[in-house]
Amino acid sequence: MSDIFNAWAGAAFGLEGLVSAELKRLGMREVRAENGGVRFQADAESLFFCNLRLRFCDRVFILLAEAECLSFEDLFQLVSSVPWEKLMNGSEKINISAHCARSRLMSPRDCQSITKKAIIEQLRKRTGKSVFPETGADFPVQVSVHQDRVKILLNTSGATLSRRGYRTWNGEAPLRETLASALVELSPWRPGMPLHDPCCGTGTLLIEAAFRASHRAPGLARSFAMESFSFVDSAALDSIRNENVHQADLSLISHISGSDIDPEALRLAGLHVRQAGLEDRIPLSCIPLQELNLPGEPGVLICNPPYGERLSDQRSCRELYRDMASLWRRHPGWRFCAISSDPGFEQAFGRRAEKKRRLYNGRLECVFYIY
Ligand SMILES: C[S@@+](CC[C@H](N)C(=O)[O-])C[C@H]1O[C@@H](n2cnc3c(N)ncnc32)[C@H](O)[C@@H]1O
Repeated sequence: MSDIFNAWAGAAFGLEGLVSAELKRLGMREVRAENGGVRFQADAESLFFCNLRLRFCDRVFILLAEAECLSFEDLFQLVSSVPWEKLMNGSEKINISAHCARSRLMSPRDCQSITKKAIIEQLRKRTGKSVFPETGADFPVQVSVHQDRVKILLNTSGATLSRRGYRTWNGEAPLRETLASALVELSPWRPGMPLHDPCCGTGTLLIEAAFRASHRAPGLARSFAMESFSFVDSAALDSIRNENVHQADLSLISHISGSDIDPEALRLAGLHVRQAGLEDRIPLSCIPLQELNLPGEPGVLICNPPYGERLSDQRSCRELYRDMASLWRRHPGWRFCAISSDPGFEQAFGRRAEKKRRLYNGRLECVFYIY
């Protein structure tokens, strides 16, 4: 097997372009965005580098095989075409997940068992071994079936990349870290400018902005499935991790701050800031946005306010959106950005946004409004 793999960076709806631009910035080759992800080519070390550094991507996969499959026999043949004996030492815990949509093969459970059978049969044939104890490291294989097209993927990330390792408790409706990072990127804020989140909750937008400002790789505090794959050189991965530790410069974090009305959310934000290694870098204050007045140079107000999904909450949320507009008016020269699933956001805010971007927060269709 060549050292260069076909790879697939999974991306949430609407974030494919950001993931693609980031892969290009990281020096990856043959980068091509598609619905739901981005194709590229990379060797194992570069895949690890991507896992450490990608800010908006869900997971990084090796695309092991891909073809149209109209029957389980087609799937069996496709899985059998992968040189599993070069990727595995035979002790791995084979963990197969399957997703099926709009296809003839619509049973994830059957796809999982056919895939497993094909892997074991090929290992048996090609290595001569007969026992595969599955007591070793996790080997996560994903079968993706979409409109009869099947991808056999090896998940190099393990848990989703939005799990950076700094958040231990979720608080009220927190943003996924990858989405928070994308909102910071889509906003007019750039490192060095003031940024304030007036509804900061558990601090995700602030921490992601601070990572961006300090060039800190978001994945530094976690491990990745590929670190225990038998075909990777773990010493090489360790040295990539160390290089990335030294690239972060926390002194570059300035004027990133947050406030919230809820002291418990702020306690969690403080905990997360500490766990992200950013202690004393992000001032937090307990103050309702109705009373907030920010001194100094103008910058960007960015927030993920409550959306008022339940009808009973809608009125108070819309009042809050009105108060956000007066907060913005009290801060001439500042830009303002907010994400909400409420279609009445602009009307309550009292003004049309200059730019809008449709995104999903989990399963909720939202719009990111930029003023
Ligand atoms: C959806 S949560 C924000 C979650 C946050 N982005 C995170 O990652 O944890 C909305 C936040 O707005 C805060 N909030 C609601 N009304 C507020 C007000 N009048 N002033 C300031 N914060 C308020 C809530 O306390 C809550 O923490």
